[in-house]
Amino acid sequence: MKKLILDVDTGTDDAVAVMLAALHDDLELVGVTTVNGNAEVHYCTENTLRVLDVIGRSEIPVFEGLAKPFARPDFPTPRRKDDLTDKIHGKYLDLPPATSRKQETGAVEYLIETYRATTDPITLVPVAPLTNIAAALTLYPKLVDLVPELVIMGGGHLHGNVTPSAEFNIWADPEAADVVFKAGFEKITLVPLDATHKALVTRDDCAALRALGTPAGDATATVVEHRIGVHDKIQRMEIAHSAPVHDALCVAYLVEPNVITTQAHPVAIETQGALTVGRTVIDVRRRGTDTRLVDVAFDADARAFVDLMLNTFGKQRG
Ligand code: RIB
Ligand code: CA
Repeated sequence: MKKLILDVDTGTDDAVAVMLAALHDDLELVGVTTVNGNAEVHYCTENTLRVLDVIGRSEIPVFEGLAKPFARPDFPTPRRKDDLTDKIHGKYLDLPPATSRKQETGAVEYLIETYRATTDPITLVPVAPLTNIAAALTLYPKLVDLVPELVIMGGGHLHGNVTPSAEFNIWADPEAADVVFKAGFEKITLVPLDATHKALVTRDDCAALRALGTPAGDATATVVEHRIGVHDKIQRMEIAHSAPVHDALCVAYLVEPNVITTQAHPVAIETQGALTVGRTVIDVRRRGTDTRLVDVAFDADARAFVDLMLNTFGKQRG
């Protein structure tokens, strides 16, 4: 069993990542930390609790994290007027209100204490702005030596989504991302939009998920159909009536590494540029001086990704 901690801003695609991590036989979701991102952090916490309740995994602890970016007083502005985030996630997920409750311990303290105490390797999977991770590193720099692999959903080389040059998770807290990428983790796997936009989930896939007759199949179909509706309107994908499910692809990689194809490159974070703030600068031509390499995913296998969700979510009887 591979142990992991998910750091989320649930969020429709975060919800699928939580279900995949909580239900796959080869994974042990040790805990979930929440952070300000797709919505204010208290919505992200409630949504995460709702997801775990729906799939009957309320014993997995949820720890609420930071409500504001690491260095900036609020999100970088301006956000696009047809900003995807509000439309594609909203505030509350379309799931019953949570009956379980978050833990008293805060997310940053949980991360530090868990890694300080663990004797087993625990993969850390942030699929949200990197605020909690940067805060934990600042309070406890030794954390960088205790995380065997960081699997980050974020960034883009040929793609931006919240601006022409930046992806939301990095853009929403670029100083935090800069701290994380410079910290010196042993192994970082970055799953950017270049990969997640190749692992598109279609309406037919949603029908197959719903036909499973399980809570996870139903919930996934519901949130992905919502994502497809928004993408068709304001960010059409290469395949009509489809949507990326960014965060879940990071979890799929943990059990099926070949679901993504990576290349090793230096990655730096732009924190200043008026047009480029939040950009992941991926040095594919080695024009810079940074020698630390990140495994960056540039391709993904959509069929394998969807089949993994069908197989995992089909096992749980409603
Ligand atoms: O750009 C996609 C990322 O931003 C995903 O993690 C999504 O949940 C949002 O946080
Ligand atoms: Ca997310």
